[in-house]
Amino acid sequence: MLGIEYPILCGGLFGLSESKLVSSVCNAGGLAFLSSNHLGSKEALRQQIRRTKELTNRPFGVNISLLSESKKNLTNDYIDVIMEENVRVVETAGNNPTQYIKRLKDENITVLHKATTARHAVKAESAGADAIVLVGYAAAGHPGMEEVGLFVNLPETVRAVHVPVVAAGGICTGAGMAGAFLMGAEAVLMGTAFAVTKESSFHENIKRKLIQAKSTDTVVVFKSLRNAFRCLKNHETARILELERQHAPAEEIFRNLASGDAKKCYLEGDADNILIPIGQGIGLIDHIVSCKELINGMMIQYKACLKNLKDPGLGNED
Ligand SMILES: Cc1cc2nc3c(=O)[nH]c(=O)nc-3n(C[C@H](O)[C@H](O)[C@H](O)COP(=O)(O)O)c2cc1C
Repeated sequence: MLGIEYPILCGGLFGLSESKLVSSVCNAGGLAFLSSNHLGSKEALRQQIRRTKELTNRPFGVNISLLSESKKNLTNDYIDVIMEENVRVVETAGNNPTQYIKRLKDENITVLHKATTARHAVKAESAGADAIVLVGYAAAGHPGMEEVGLFVNLPETVRAVHVPVVAAGGICTGAGMAGAFLMGAEAVLMGTAFAVTKESSFHENIKRKLIQAKSTDTVVVFKSLRNAFRCLKNHETARILELERQHAPAEEIFRNLASGDAKKCYLEGDADNILIPIGQGIGLIDHIVSCKELINGMMIQYKACLKNLKDPGLGNED
């Protein structure tokens, strides 16, 4: 469906998935999505698409995060650029994607929609999505309000839809990929693992802090706003959780959010005063490797896992 060598995708990563990271994943045989969310204008997206084309001749996609209705015009602008620049794959995430999927499908663009429950996956399928990226609760960013882990919502979704399902949320290793495939996934999508690669634009200080983190070092904020968001525990998440504990209204929470520019903090290494989306899988990562090393390493481990399965030690069953 995607014309790629390995079934490994890198999701849109706010502030990070620009031409350098995206082309590195694609050149290593996977597929990555440029994040449009942090760019703010159609011309900035056009520039990223053109730059990515200079760095790779492999397919790549664009992520469109549909979190707020007020950004509807910008979303349609992004879709115009995607069509004008002939990008063939889009990942939609967030709010109901129906109207946008229709526009994209009219141009035969392949659409993968991110869903966190089987129910949302079925809706996206009926809206015309070509594949579902099913996100489990361990994921960085928006893991859904229902708090269902991948071991349950992945097979549930595979049963419920007819289109291919891509598994996401906590997958960082070839073993995780093998597990997802055994449960019916046809590819995996990762964010956390790619966010700490050599090509990610997180500052070295942030990357070093992240690879020391354990699975218990992340926390979900914004549950009171029904917009659950998993990030690294830091000064900023503590402030937000305290406001949520006091039942602060949304306006107060937003007014109190650190006003810093996230991308600037990521580049300059401020790991405390901004939200850093990261998933529980960070506990499995202790080295900074290149995208190529990550993908090759996963494929080697994945094949070793399958080999073990051929001789799964079931004993004498005769
Ligand atoms: C730094 C970072 C930024 C992210 N930004 C976005 C985003 O803007 N839009 C989106 O749909 N998902 C975003 N995500 C989520 C990923 O695309 C992906 O769904 C998720 O990371 C998969 O789970 P994992 O982190 O356990 O691999 C982000 C993830 C990370 C780590």
